[in-house]
Amino acid sequence: MSPDLVDTEQTVLVVDFGAQYAQLIARRVRELRVYSEIVPHSVSAADVADRQPAAIVLSGGPKSVHVEGAPVLDPAIYDLGVPILGICYGAQLIAQQLDGTVGRNDRGEYGRTEVERIAGSESALLEGIPSDQTVWMSHFDAITEVPEGFVATASSPSAPVAAFENVDRNIYGVQYHPEVAHTPHGMAVLEQFLWRQADCSPTWTMTNVIEQSVDAIRKQVGGGRAICGLSGGVDSAVAAALVHKAIGPQLTCVYVDTGLMRKNESDQVVDTFHRTQGIDLIHVRAADEFFDALVGVVDPEAKRKAIGEKFIRVFEAASGGIEDANFLVQGTLYPDVIESGTSDAAKIKSHHNVGGLPDDMEFELVEPLRALFKDEVRKVGTELGLPDEIVWRQPFPGPGLGVRIIGEVDRAKVAILQDADLIVREEIRRAGLEREIWQAFAVLPDIRSVGVMGDERTYGFPAIIRAVTSEDAMTADWARLPYDLLETMANRIINEVDGINRVAYDITSKPPGTIEWE
Ligand code: XMP
Repeated sequence: MSPDLVDTEQTVLVVDFGAQYAQLIARRVRELRVYSEIVPHSVSAADVADRQPAAIVLSGGPKSVHVEGAPVLDPAIYDLGVPILGICYGAQLIAQQLDGTVGRNDRGEYGRTEVERIAGSESALLEGIPSDQTVWMSHFDAITEVPEGFVATASSPSAPVAAFENVDRNIYGVQYHPEVAHTPHGMAVLEQFLWRQADCSPTWTMTNVIEQSVDAIRKQVGGGRAICGLSGGVDSAVAAALVHKAIGPQLTCVYVDTGLMRKNESDQVVDTFHRTQGIDLIHVRAADEFFDALVGVVDPEAKRKAIGEKFIRVFEAASGGIEDANFLVQGTLYPDVIESGTSDAAKIKSHHNVGGLPDDMEFELVEPLRALFKDEVRKVGTELGLPDEIVWRQPFPGPGLGVRIIGEVDRAKVAILQDADLIVREEIRRAGLEREIWQAFAVLPDIRSVGVMGDERTYGFPAIIRAVTSEDAMTADWARLPYDLLETMANRIINEVDGINRVAYDITSKPPGTIEWE
């Protein structure tokens, strides 16, 4: 198993039993200022013992413990003396593996549910929490008998054991989901488990993250030189600022104008980084090269690969004049690492800053944000003194508008999309929705449709508006934008952008869709 992504004294391991539950738990643990990492359920007791975690949290999962092939935990982990909290499936697994009973219910519990303390029971985990509380449940099976040495401490209408514990072994379980916002006292349960039962100290702060990263970057780069590609997005901006803090003038930023940026973005990025950050910056105008590389490329993965590869080559060329520039800074985030198949999660897209890199790349990577979620990156950015306009900038994919134009990419399509996209963003800002919306942009498909403008028949492209809310891009919901706002956007796009005669709104969440179209 890989070592901790960061050097920290206390790590909580979140064991992933499937679906998306583990990420939310990992983030909640970090919100309580304890560092957490997700590990697959196949983790062995020897691996766990090696890493000496401060605590283990077993996530929920989509399976029933009774199903053939349902994931289990290496039973020797229960005997390591590491404090364990099982959530939902994780709780049922504890009950089952330690010889309690998990029954099959007539009916499950889904959504808001009332839980009450079992009269006369003492509970370390639920201390300070009201004896009647509302929680979020999502289960069918239910624990009916606790293992020997455990006590049942709470119940709900369909879960005779909604919480149980064995304080001597420091093992706890809750049938409900303390990590979701719909469980008002959920954070108090996690706090009780981490800070009191597992004796974790709340020391994982962004100030610490910055200090540790600065040390790690200095150690890695030594007297060498690093270059960093600024993509226009918050990740590369924060990565650059962090590395600049660590090694100052040993860092040169390269801003590659791929021709696939949002409208006016190039000037803005160059200006901001030069002016406010005082970072050494090379502005490469490489649009021609990128458009050449994209001729005839239609397949999304091929496109990502082509853009990623060209990006690196352009960097290599730009760094040619910088002696010893053998480190490349990338704003890779923890969700990118997870989504690229490093953990249990299936590979979904090869994000160009992880999976799409050419094998013969000549740089060693410096990835100071590899352990962080997006909200943490924003906090680091603010702490480093970056202005709001950068820190709160919407995420933008490395391959830029290339993955928002379906089919072959050319200059004319990019110009159309840039204009439509600008209108979407302007109207979102005007409506005051900038921070509420995770991302709002336009997509240009490779189909055309018939319309009528004035008395003329038109045959143009549709623009598809995509606006989503999300906490970390792992899951997302389509934004319920007001009809009036959608209408304003649509009217403006059709009237102001040549080549577009129709506007559609994408109402797909993630999953099953992804945020980007390619
Ligand atoms: P998807 O489309 O996978 O995107 O739901 C999740 C988030 O990641 C952004 N994204 C990228 N970011 N390089 C990046 O740095 C990429 O290649 C890339 N592709 C997608 C996307 O905008 C969304 O915020």
